[in-house]
Amino acid sequence: MIEFSPELIHNLRAARHIAVLTGAGVSAESGIPTFRDAQTGLWAQYRPEDLATPEAFAHNPKLVWDWYAWRAEIARGAQPNFGHYALAEMQRHVDQLVLITQNVDGFHQLAGSTNVIELHGNLMRTKCSREDVVIAEWNASDDRPPRCPRCGAYLRPDVVWFGERLPADVLEAAGQAANVCDVFFSIGTSSLVEPAASLAHIALQHGAAVIEINPTVTSLTSRASFVLQGASGEILPMLIKAVW
Ligand code: OAD
Repeated sequence: MIEFSPELIHNLRAARHIAVLTGAGVSAESGIPTFRDAQTGLWAQYRPEDLATPEAFAHNPKLVWDWYAWRAEIARGAQPNFGHYALAEMQRHVDQLVLITQNVDGFHQLAGSTNVIELHGNLMRTKCSREDVVIAEWNASDDRPPRCPRCGAYLRPDVVWFGERLPADVLEAAGQAANVCDVFFSIGTSSLVEPAASLAHIALQHGAAVIEINPTVTSLTSRASFVLQGASGEILPMLIKAVW
């Protein structure tokens, strides 16, 4: 059992606005490899950074499409873990909880969280690579990637790739949440990728308490107000029990 400091418990009980940033680590206990875990099997020879880019898609659209299809398959075969459910429960205890996720597996919504900001999109959605509109269905064919039924361009996953800009409205909402929160959680993220990694610092700047949950040290650890070292699927349910 982890002991939580009285100060941490007081901060959470007094919090009216909580902002949460999650990364791949929150889905690790669901069996979804984190972004920087070594890739396995067929994909072991590739680095995610070399596949999740517009250049990779332009150069070899089938390879990139198949990689995301593989990741979607893994996500469909898994389910949210205790960490996702604890965050959905936390939302029921505070006036406002905004959940900002870098993950594309949709597990926070599956676990019952609402007010979820998907910074990097969602693997389960597909869009036209030319018109940038979500396409829900298309003519079944063996084409990989399939073609847009409207314009014939390749379809692609509705996720943000390296080098692509995040949708402005999404970024604005995430920045706003970091700006007004009393408490900011950074959970299961290596805090390496911008603009997500700046959100905790926005919270720190206006005096919010920043709580990091991660088994390892990250670039945020030395700045965080509270550091809970361990797995989010274990820590979050205990934290909910200790506080509310
Ligand atoms: P990373 O793979 O960079 O980091 C995962 C973090 O989760 C690491 O700090 C691990 O220590 C931590 N971790 C592992 N298991 C955990 C557990 N059970 N509980 C809590 N933490 C755990 O994944 P992200 O930080 O999410 O963006 O990567 C951020 C972005 O980098 C991704 O969204 C992706 C990539 O660029 C795009 O694809 C645009």
